[in-house]
Amino acid sequence: MHITINCAKSLDSILEGNYSNKKDWKRVYELRAKSDAIMVGINTILKDNPRLTTHNTGKEPVKIVIDSRCRIPKDARIFQTKTIVAVSKKAPKERIAEIQKKAKIILCGKEKVDLCALMNELQKTSINTLMIEGGGTLISSILNLNLADELIVAIAPQITSKGIRFVEKELKAPINLKLKDIQKLDEIVVLKYDVLK
Ligand SMILES: NC(=O)c1ccc[n+]([C@@H]2O[C@H](COP(=O)([O-])OP(=O)(O)OC[C@H]3O[C@@H](n4cnc5c(N)ncnc54)[C@H](OP(=O)(O)O)[C@@H]3O)[C@@H](O)[C@H]2O)c1
Repeated sequence: MHITINCAKSLDSILEGNYSNKKDWKRVYELRAKSDAIMVGINTILKDNPRLTTHNTGKEPVKIVIDSRCRIPKDARIFQTKTIVAVSKKAPKERIAEIQKKAKIILCGKEKVDLCALMNELQKTSINTLMIEGGGTLISSILNLNLADELIVAIAPQITSKGIRFVEKELKAPINLKLKDIQKLDEIVVLKYDVLK
């Protein structure tokens, strides 16, 4: 599976807030349309309630929410297109039963969602290209497990100073990257890297 992390951030690497402009959103919609699936952490759903659609740019990828305790609200906007909710053994059975009416549930992990086991499951369902859209806690786990192949960051001309950061949790080791493209979308700079493994 090819895994791309995509995010928009301030110059000081804060993720919380909207750092994309019109041209960058177009880039994001096109990238979504090229992906088989898009993954986010539950805090992103609870905070932003996003639909994560392609805005009619192309085919709709499957949406995947990482949600150990199955806290996702049953009226979350993400359910407007095909969704998978990955939960752990911490998820109450009643919550699973409720959310199962809206989405496919994949159970993997004792406490947190076991992301490696989940990737194996997803691969079996012909998900071969996966886009990780955040937030910073999920991105940290993906980097820590060395799962990402590509990293795309859009950097906005703002120093925000506080909020959830791009890498929210400490990493076990530095991640080395190879710069492969730089794009300027008006005031936003988009950097594309391969992750060296
Ligand atoms: N600028 C951007 O591009 C962008 C994109 C997306 C989000 N955001 C922002 O990011 C913020 C949310 O980020 P966040 O860091 O608070 O949360 P997050 O990454 O959206 O969600 C993290 C949560 O996922 C659950 N989880 C379960 N298993 C996990 C695992 N193995 N690894 C990591 N997480 C796991 C945990 O909650 P449980 O234990 O309850 O399951 C964890 O607290 C929001 O403010 C949102 O606006 C920005």
